[in-house]
Amino acid sequence: MKNWRQHLHLEPPTGFLNDPNGLCYFDGKYHIYFQYCKDNAEGKSPKSWGYYTTTNWQDYQFEGEAILPDIDEDRHGAYSGTSFIERDTQYIFYTGNVKEEGNFDYITAGRQSNTILVTSKDGKNISDKIIVLNNSNYPKNLSCHIRDPKVFKLEDTYYMILGARTHDDKGCILFYKSYNLLEWEFVSETTKENMGYMWECPDWITIEGQNYLSISPQGLKSSEFQYQNVYQSGYMKASNEISNLNLETFVEWDMGFDFYAPQTFVDKDGRTILIGWFGLPDIEYENLTTQQGYQHCLTLPRVIQKDFDGKLYQIPHEIIETNRQTPFELTELPTKLPTPFEIVGYSKEDFSIILDNKLEISYTKGELKLEFYDKTYGGGRDIRRAKINSCKNIRVIVDSSSIEIFVNNGEIAMSSRFYPDKFISISSKNIHGQVYTLSPFNISKSLDWLGGVFMIIALGEILIDYTQKGLSEKGMLLFEQNAGGAPANVLAALSKFGLDTAFIGKVGDDMQGHFLKKTLDDANINTQNLIIDKNYFTTLAFVSLSESGERSFAFSRKFSADINLNTDELDHDLIKQSKIFHFGSLSLTHNSSNEATYTAIKLAKSAGAIISYDPNYRAGLWDSVELAKSKMKEPLKYVDIIKISDEECELLTGESDVNKACLKLLDEGISIVIVTLGADGAIIGFNNEIIKITGCQSEKVVDTTGAGDSFVGGFLYSLYTSQKSIPSLTIEDLKMFARFANATASLCIEEFGAIKAMPTLEKVRSRL
Ligand code: FRU
Repeated sequence: MKNWRQHLHLEPPTGFLNDPNGLCYFDGKYHIYFQYCKDNAEGKSPKSWGYYTTTNWQDYQFEGEAILPDIDEDRHGAYSGTSFIERDTQYIFYTGNVKEEGNFDYITAGRQSNTILVTSKDGKNISDKIIVLNNSNYPKNLSCHIRDPKVFKLEDTYYMILGARTHDDKGCILFYKSYNLLEWEFVSETTKENMGYMWECPDWITIEGQNYLSISPQGLKSSEFQYQNVYQSGYMKASNEISNLNLETFVEWDMGFDFYAPQTFVDKDGRTILIGWFGLPDIEYENLTTQQGYQHCLTLPRVIQKDFDGKLYQIPHEIIETNRQTPFELTELPTKLPTPFEIVGYSKEDFSIILDNKLEISYTKGELKLEFYDKTYGGGRDIRRAKINSCKNIRVIVDSSSIEIFVNNGEIAMSSRFYPDKFISISSKNIHGQVYTLSPFNISKSLDWLGGVFMIIALGEILIDYTQKGLSEKGMLLFEQNAGGAPANVLAALSKFGLDTAFIGKVGDDMQGHFLKKTLDDANINTQNLIIDKNYFTTLAFVSLSESGERSFAFSRKFSADINLNTDELDHDLIKQSKIFHFGSLSLTHNSSNEATYTAIKLAKSAGAIISYDPNYRAGLWDSVELAKSKMKEPLKYVDIIKISDEECELLTGESDVNKACLKLLDEGISIVIVTLGADGAIIGFNNEIIKITGCQSEKVVDTTGAGDSFVGGFLYSLYTSQKSIPSLTIEDLKMFARFANATASLCIEEFGAIKAMPTLEKVRSRL
């Protein structure tokens, strides 16, 4: 599965995002809300307000949902709205959407558009909801499409504008005024000829004394260089007379495929910042991440400036420049560059820039063009054009699945989603300049909000288990080629359950190595950081089985790939995406992979991941038991969850009594200690308590390879999908997790091998 998760753009952890909402600077933070369907990537459930905060535009925290559609008056959606800050209080106005039951067209009848107020002192905890306007308060010539309040203050008067549609299908805005933010009085209705049937998301902007009305109109007729998308968004210069507003020419904000419903706010330095929805409703093209359970993102923040004519310019927030790494010359680029990156180009003539031979950005004789040559690459997008007198400079910001183009210092913007690989080739004609790789933002989603879209990453050995499979006619042992390696097995279980996983390790450039890569790919485990190295052999393990299915191992692990993974080969960006990072002790036996393991652990930990450890002691791989003991103990200080066998209890703690060993490990600061006891179940230590979980019977034991790993997989899956952070877990939760894990293991041992023996979710559930 390709990873199109953005590095510089705010996305929903799961589900669907549309308009930015309530943007503001308040209480020392930027509050970035958005229209959100947490559980529906198609956007087909009642909208709430999803919520990110940042203090520096670099580190973002996902805060969950701030406004839920939980009262009668907003039961079909807490629609778009605004934040207005007065002293120490944030006043949030939004539209409560209600579709009454019955046979209605929902345009002229059947829809309530309630204007609702909530207040907050911190942006997150909100007051009771107050309905300040409802259908009875709107002018009679209006249809029931009235929404998306924006509130601002002029001298002592508060004003609210709402976007609307009249009964004779004209887009317009309504002005209301108030002296206390609670009682609102109708002032005026403003429209403009030939500007569509509905205006959504109005915004009132004032820069250096000039007013602008920004709207997202629907129903404009498209032509070659104008209104090329299904709906538009743009701004008009506006006069000062609110009761008799004059609106000048409409100028589109963005000429690309994916831009709608933008909103502005004033930042702490007094600048106007615009953020748009990096998407549109009702499009003919596709967003390929939908298959991965989420859709859409917000655009980069853009600083809005005005020129002497009053024309507005959009300049990517300077945080992008802060994040630039060492530049390459456009004319001397490596074959491919990893996303995200930025191209900064200058030209005095016609030019073109081509990505992956599939997407061309060109300027020819007064026309700026963005054109996809490959259907899948652009998700069905084809061509967008803009008229412009000259094109002197261009900035192109490319993230994992988006491109934003700014021409002539922001005179024209063009934004589009697209679906490339991680590495992109860039070629160009008649243009010089630089390409900078950009370091990603730190966008963190607390564990409470995991929903199956963040990575569970495991690092360590991947090898062939040559599993004994009877005798040949001549009485010689036969071995079956099975993919194995504990960390990979754990991921196989998780991936089979539908979670996003990535494996980090190294194989040889040989038959076995390629087989292993294919196995991971087939199991839907991300292999972007699986190194294939021609200097080493893929590690082999020969597994002989006793009659009861018990295993003994013979390793072929000298000059082996897995022990030669090195720190420089780690994909930091990938590791930073991990929410759970799992490893074992096999990568600790040799210097190179040992160092790589620690680098990765520290990176994952500092990105907020839970660290999970299964030492998986294999005597034959260590020079001495003493060395094994000391090396296996070393990582404990980073570990949140450990899974061990009863034999490993003693090795790690010196205690043969399982309960005492558990307590010792809890004392070391490990949050969850699990000792698996095979068919007898498991012992769990948590919060100074020790509990016993009974086992889960298998129908028949065929091969116990991967039993412990499938247990870990089942356990981590339950933790992950519980959407809870470790401190908020209860003993009851842990019992449930362990039961699920036991059932997973009981099914795994009924099949040969490990990776291909991992059960489906349905099977585990029915066993439970
Ligand atoms: C614009 C819009 C708004 C509405 C919201 C609903 O995209 O249709 O008018 O408030 O989305 O999610």
